[in-house]
Amino acid sequence: MTTVRLNSTDNAVSFDTDALVVGVHTGPDGPRPAPGAESLDEALGGRLAATLGAMGVKGRAGEIVKLPTFGALTAPLLAVVGLGDAPEGDYDPETLRRAAGTATRALAGTARVALALPAADAERAGAVALGGLLGAYSFTTYRTTGEQAAPVAELTVLSGADGAQAAVERAATVAESVTLVRDLVNTPPSDLWPARFAEIAEQTGSKAGLSVEVLDEVALKEQGFGGIVAVGQGSARPPRLVRLAYSHPEATKTVAFVGKGITFDSGGLSLKPSAAMDWMKSDMGGAGAVFGSLVAIAKLGLKVNAVGYLCLAENMPSGTAQRPSDVFTSYAGKTVEVLDTDAEGRLVLIDGIARAGQDNPDVIVDIATLTGAQIVALGWRTAGVMANDDELREEVVRAAGEQGEAAWGMPLPEELRKGLDSPVADIANLHPERFGGMLTAAIFLREFVPEGVSWAHIDMAGPAFNKGEPHGYTPKGGTGAITRTLVGLAERYAN
Ligand code: BES
Ligand code: MN
Ligand code: ZN
Repeated sequence: MTTVRLNSTDNAVSFDTDALVVGVHTGPDGPRPAPGAESLDEALGGRLAATLGAMGVKGRAGEIVKLPTFGALTAPLLAVVGLGDAPEGDYDPETLRRAAGTATRALAGTARVALALPAADAERAGAVALGGLLGAYSFTTYRTTGEQAAPVAELTVLSGADGAQAAVERAATVAESVTLVRDLVNTPPSDLWPARFAEIAEQTGSKAGLSVEVLDEVALKEQGFGGIVAVGQGSARPPRLVRLAYSHPEATKTVAFVGKGITFDSGGLSLKPSAAMDWMKSDMGGAGAVFGSLVAIAKLGLKVNAVGYLCLAENMPSGTAQRPSDVFTSYAGKTVEVLDTDAEGRLVLIDGIARAGQDNPDVIVDIATLTGAQIVALGWRTAGVMANDDELREEVVRAAGEQGEAAWGMPLPEELRKGLDSPVADIANLHPERFGGMLTAAIFLREFVPEGVSWAHIDMAGPAFNKGEPHGYTPKGGTGAITRTLVGLAERYAN
């Protein structure tokens, strides 16, 4: 993985590196060098803006050009990245994250990169570090040709800001967790099944200082985790429930995170069409985010108690698979009629949510790639947030915003509940009405939240996996979405 460090030099011109990154703004008369680029412009004879203009560079976000420096700087290569319009006041950290990520992505193949972006305070220095690290990501486990450019090996953030060192270290820890989640999401389901995920959680989790407990299929059945058992019973690779726990002696609050961990979602007997199935290795992204965030929370030593549940199963059709119209008894004791085996995420989550209630948490937040309806409602990049508590919902949306992850609060309209009535069981897992599918899924989950507990649900079906082109610090494939939001949320509940 890419390493990062801080250097407080204000002399970028003679800084020893393979490529130097600076920012450029849009301006009325063409691109304008951003703070951090002035001394370079001078070293280049004041011709930077004119040269960029001649090249057609506008300074817009997402733009990147590489220029040879012909000895004018110590670095042989200068990379200029667009920052959009110059801000009135402070830079939006997300602008800096995306610019840094755009740069490190474009500089794959370059060993050492120094980032001379406007990092005037600790928060902005951390943003540059995090964006740079996340943009340098690549997943090469299954490549044999060696033709791919190697990711940037060594990043240096140039900033003299107070507290920048700690901010860069936090960024490194968070990036490590996001990378872990992306790797898990990108791993083909032939190599990532429930027991394997549990093993990785056990190893990596205990190394980070978490206590880890794993329930196998026998324990799950014995203890009444009917939803996880029902979803997992069609697969030759049985389900698991992993509990990760972190505590701090000075903590006063406990947060509980519950993640949907379907290592592959074929739909089960309610089989998906191929075009909807070929990326369903990403259906464990929620459990990934819970796992990654717990690891980061432990490494950061936050003054909070945190528990995470990974609800792991593979949803497969077979002679042992659950059938549409089957009924199971959930961990909470309520019975559920399964009308559609492709609505499986909610079935594993309700057991995790009910189990999390036994930890007496202040809040329960579940994270899931739960519905295609989320993508219909909010698009690929914006997660939906629903809750039984308006304040918690806003808290989650704010935490996401602070970390630069897009999330939007959505309602739980009461009239949708009656569509989940079942003629035979306490509740059905499918609403007869397709519209508002993200909301009915959340309303289903809400029925299983322990009395008196504040609960929020994050549907990130779209954000978890980038089927399109890379952008900013987001690669193709697994994104590690919501991992940072959960770390930020835990920070908000820490002393
Ligand atoms: N894992 C899917 C949801 C999904 C869709 C995630 C697209 C990522 C991208 C989930 O298990 C599912 O199949 N949901 C169904 C629910 C329906 C049967 C009520 C859906 O959204 O179609
Ligand atoms: Mn499904
Ligand atoms: Zn699913």
